Amino acid sequence: MFPLVPAPIKFERKEGFFKFLKDDSGAIKYDYVRDDSLPPEGYELRARDSKLVMRSCDEAGRFYGEVTLGVMDALTGGTPGEFYISDAPAFGYRGYMLDVARYFFDVDTVLRHIDYMALLKLNVLHLHLTDDQGWRVEIKKYPRLTAVGAFRSRTHVRLYRHGGYYTREQLKQIVAYAHSKHIKVVPEIDFPGHFSAAIAAYPELGCYGEGVKVARNFGVKYDVACVGKDTTLSFMKDVLEELFDIFTDEYYHLGGDEVMYERWKLCPECLELKRRLGFNQWSEVQAWALNELSAFLNEHGKKAIIWNESKITGKADKNLVWQYWQGGLDEKKLAEEINSGRQVIMSPCEPYYLDLPYSINGVRAMEKYKLIPEGTKVDAVDNILGAEFPLWTELVPNARQADKMLFPRLAVGAEIAWRGCCDENVGDRAKSYAPLFIRLGAIVGEKAGAEKKGIAYVLDRIWWERRQLYWGAIGNLIGNMKVRRAAKRKFRQQNQR
Ligand code: ACM
Ligand code: ZN
Repeated sequence: MFPLVPAPIKFERKEGFFKFLKDDSGAIKYDYVRDDSLPPEGYELRARDSKLVMRSCDEAGRFYGEVTLGVMDALTGGTPGEFYISDAPAFGYRGYMLDVARYFFDVDTVLRHIDYMALLKLNVLHLHLTDDQGWRVEIKKYPRLTAVGAFRSRTHVRLYRHGGYYTREQLKQIVAYAHSKHIKVVPEIDFPGHFSAAIAAYPELGCYGEGVKVARNFGVKYDVACVGKDTTLSFMKDVLEELFDIFTDEYYHLGGDEVMYERWKLCPECLELKRRLGFNQWSEVQAWALNELSAFLNEHGKKAIIWNESKITGKADKNLVWQYWQGGLDEKKLAEEINSGRQVIMSPCEPYYLDLPYSINGVRAMEKYKLIPEGTKVDAVDNILGAEFPLWTELVPNARQADKMLFPRLAVGAEIAWRGCCDENVGDRAKSYAPLFIRLGAIVGEKAGAEKKGIAYVLDRIWWERRQLYWGAIGNLIGNMKVRRAAKRKFRQQNQR
């Protein structure tokens, strides 16, 4: 099999000799025919009798045809032999997420990751722009978000003050570059959890904002946005409004994941909101806040995506797209949600998170996973928009480590998103892309993608689980102990008044 990733739907190699011809700029020459009978983003290539003809119905298809030609040229030294390719994606949403909030990645790195995506025919870049550990987008109305929220004093591996953010102009540059490669950009402002960096900058955004710092460690934090104050939702709307002329594509991500209710349960304003809305559960308050912002986005012609959370199943409006990361929800319930009309993007943390060790989320695990959850009805399959492969960066402090996590897995993900499954030898084909990644500036080591076996695997697994335990509980318990005590004291006094 010719080592293209994603493997084209149909690929025939013929006997005859064929050599690519190039123009003065080095671009491969071909005759182009616009053919409206072909599917969106699809393309057809025929190399025969010294002639190369490409057909597509749109510019994206033409772009992917050119990508395929470029790869064939590089991998065959310009003499691929006669061939015929007919290709089109199974899914319209083929995403990659870069978490720039935990560690900041400069513009050049983001542009390089866009090059990786284009090579693999991925078409959505999701930028996780804000989290407890950093706020990465300049907002004119709230300058402290970046002056304070974009920097932290240290982490476990970087023992000095560090951080960074993108200016509006830099983000426009990133979006324009992505668009030139038929890639849409989804910005994420994570709300109401994962919000410490914003609270550190503007303590009034929290229920009890005093003492909240841009987080040095990881895991789920107790301090979340105070949804009981009108000003908090106004803040979010102001932020989104400033993003509209930067991020011009349809989808906006509101986060919505891993919200702790501890502060809300004590906060006079949040308690009052819950009472006023007549809710019994805090998860209803969480869903309400996300629904409000989703409606705001809709008014501006945008659509909201949130991370799925089992807690808000049945409470979040049906027009919110769910990014399925598991979030306590099993696949049976997910299928029910899809069957009832929910649109979803598949990003199960096992096996699609690209920050997990290769021993856990390796090529074979990705290959085995069924993208369409069991129980999904045939007429509901279209509610699965596609797949996305997130690179969280709690343990990825630099571009070199990012490359290690991405290659060759991102290529395998791209095949899943393009075809809906993996074709044979996907791991080997993905690895054959090493020179192409290196040409784009990636650092690819000899052992890229190596999966541990036996005892080494067991140790990796134990290490991963223990790390989760540490992240989720111990670190934050210690870190928040002082704040929690003070918050409790203050709220108790207020509630007694
Ligand atoms: C997530 O991994 N908390 C979306
Ligand atoms: Zn509150």
